[in-house]
Amino acid sequence: MSVAKPLPHDAARLHVTGAARYVDDIPVPAGCLSLAFGLSSVARGRIVAMDLDPVRAAPGVVAVLTAEDIPGDNDVSPSIHDEPLLAEGEVFYIGQPVFAVVAETHLAARKAARLAKIEYQELPPLLTVDDALEAESYFEGGPVTWAIGDVAAALDGAAHVIDGTLEMGGQEHFYLEGQAALALPQEGGDMVVHSSTQHPTEIQHKVAETLGVPMHAVRVETRRMGGGFGGKESQGNALACICAVAAAATGKPCKMRYDRDDDMTITGKRHDFRIAYRVGFDGDGRIAGVDFTHYVRCGWSMDLSLPVADRAMLHSDNAYHLPACRIESHRLKTNTQSATAYRGFGGPQGMLGIERVVDHVAHALGKDPLEVRRVNYYREMAGVDGGSAPAPAAHPRDISGQKKGPELDGADPHRDMASRGSAGAVDEAPGGLAADPDGVQVTPYHMPVEDFILHEMTDALVTASDYHARRAAVAEWNATNPVLKRGIAFAPVKFGISFTLTHLNQAGALVHVYQDGSIHMNHGGTEMGQGLFQKVAQVAAARFGVPLEMVKITATDTGKVPNTSATAASSGSDLNGMAVKIACDTIRDRMAEFLAEEHQAAAADVVFADGQVSVGGASYTFAEAAQKCYAGRVGLSATGFYKTPKVTWDRSQGRGRPFFYFAYGAAVTEVVIDTLTGENRILRADILHDAGTSLNPALDIGQIEGGYVQGAGWLTTEELVWNDKGLLTTHAPSTYKIPACSDRPGVFNVALWDGANREETIYRSKAVGEPPFMLGISALMALSDAVASCGADYPALDAPATAERVLAAVNRVRG
Ligand code: MTE
Ligand code: MOS
Repeated sequence: MSVAKPLPHDAARLHVTGAARYVDDIPVPAGCLSLAFGLSSVARGRIVAMDLDPVRAAPGVVAVLTAEDIPGDNDVSPSIHDEPLLAEGEVFYIGQPVFAVVAETHLAARKAARLAKIEYQELPPLLTVDDALEAESYFEGGPVTWAIGDVAAALDGAAHVIDGTLEMGGQEHFYLEGQAALALPQEGGDMVVHSSTQHPTEIQHKVAETLGVPMHAVRVETRRMGGGFGGKESQGNALACICAVAAAATGKPCKMRYDRDDDMTITGKRHDFRIAYRVGFDGDGRIAGVDFTHYVRCGWSMDLSLPVADRAMLHSDNAYHLPACRIESHRLKTNTQSATAYRGFGGPQGMLGIERVVDHVAHALGKDPLEVRRVNYYREMAGVDGGSAPAPAAHPRDISGQKKGPELDGADPHRDMASRGSAGAVDEAPGGLAADPDGVQVTPYHMPVEDFILHEMTDALVTASDYHARRAAVAEWNATNPVLKRGIAFAPVKFGISFTLTHLNQAGALVHVYQDGSIHMNHGGTEMGQGLFQKVAQVAAARFGVPLEMVKITATDTGKVPNTSATAASSGSDLNGMAVKIACDTIRDRMAEFLAEEHQAAAADVVFADGQVSVGGASYTFAEAAQKCYAGRVGLSATGFYKTPKVTWDRSQGRGRPFFYFAYGAAVTEVVIDTLTGENRILRADILHDAGTSLNPALDIGQIEGGYVQGAGWLTTEELVWNDKGLLTTHAPSTYKIPACSDRPGVFNVALWDGANREETIYRSKAVGEPPFMLGISALMALSDAVASCGADYPALDAPATAERVLAAVNRVRG
């Protein structure tokens, strides 16, 4: 069976040899033109005069487009029609596209774009959270509040109350392939668009609106992205739409790609947040109530900010049962890039809020933060063997080569984690909290937590990482070393899986079996490096019982599968895996019925396995079976459609079941800081992550490693800086520091938790794209621990914890 095998990424060879085709590599017809945007140089103002003649006169320029040249809607917003493709009289941030140059080459277009003479009447920009609060510059009119329990009473009655504020920065996606699009004009005004997008249907929709044509006149194709990370859910709209406008106007193919500094200047990033908290707790650190205020800097247009801010609220509990909790969320409109989706989609920010609270509570009580975390964990449901629900009959658990969880040994590359054994393990009963028989605990948004498995996972990771002994060793080191200080921290993750906009939880697939038995597989998901296509191809191969090589992975195409959702919310394999399974099963059932009739056997007894189809004592190769079915006039093509069950969500009330299930993980990170300079590094990370029954352990471990490093980068070295005019000054790798190979932990142990999804997902797997990102929070907590060793005060370390911030915090705690 092809599922659950640790196969490499289907395009791994193409990636490393440079043969993989990205948008800019697609061979284009002769006469292809290149585009560049002319950008606003002020953060807020009115355009008083615009002289584009010097641009038109520049070498190689074919046309210059402004808002008036757009045949349909001048809008690229994915939400409320508040984002002009080209500015109309007003500008709202530095980097906003004002006009577009169409030229013979990419360089000619870029050079010409700089020659415009634009006169602005400048207005004072709102750049910061404080600017926006003062001006009451909100999306949705004002703050949104959700609550459970009586927080005021909980705080009043608590033995201890503390408060604090945490600032956390945004994050540049830094996909290796920048934004890119190519529009190919067709006969009769139709348009074919190749786009580096996570959301081909959105591109189709926005291009159709921009051209003023029906969606059927536009076909969008996406073979792959060189990374998206959420930055290609909506941020590719502008390029695709302007290329289509230029292609329609000139009749020539038109393409556009942003150079890195343009990409960083124009496109939205992760939302930066300020989170203020007030928490009441008892002497054990058990939280009675928390009051959170989220200040979310959304930028100039709405984009996806509302669901991002919602998801932050929905992760304000992380793994902890909060009997009373109130979250007030301010979605602030500022004159900066429109902040957008980024791995975790607000979840990381919300989660960091509560992790900071727990860390602060532990410090106030002088306790190991791990203890305070455990005392607040959700309860495991009585009678439920967390995570290890019975698997369906065909459940692929016995696959050779798959080693999951620290209790397994043998070929596990991370076996040192397993063998480090029980040294240092203390008496921590699974369950942590006394079991209270009166039912399931609910989240602050009233969803029962029925699948909590972190008690067991924590036990396993604490043992495998040798947490207690290492924590003692860190304390000993710090007692004797005056300059270099170490820190260690454990952090858990509970991440909700599903789109919170319920209707997006649907997917389609299209599968053909050709008469030679080869299979053409298509679905609505997009490939951005995460390995979705390989996982779904494994599902298709498993359904037909054929080797993976018989399944052709094809580009995402709006002409094959319509009305798709963005590949996002980590749900790509959950949704598209199921849709493909349904399509394959339809064909398989038709084949079985036909062959059974020929052999006077029962359709249910036809077996598809090992590349053979066995029926009534006979056995055919899959190719022979396909040929027979073709000759017998059996339809060998089918669509599949899937919608996630059980999800319901009332956003206005902050109530319901927005998530089908939760994905869990935990990490232990050890760091060292230099107290003279603030420089720091991650020495070791141990991770145990829950991917359910993994569809592909190799790809899942890749997602976990990459997610952790990207999350740690967000909280340590990646800093976005705007000057007082609103110009992003960190718009290149020279000034914006993403983790390099040398920044990865020196010891990096990653293991998969061995447990099936309790819910009926594809082969009982779990989504894995985003959850591991938040394991990076353990790195910030470890830095906080290292700084705390320098003095008595709480470090209150903001993120990113750059060398400067670490140094300042060291000096602060030293008083
Ligand atoms: N992994 C790679 N290599 N490149 C990416 O762009 N995007 C992440 C995650 N992992 C990303 C990635 C994000 S933001 C999401 S939502 C998921 O992959 C999307 O894919 P999935 O739903 O198939 O997991
Ligand atoms: Mo991922 S932020 O949901 O694209």
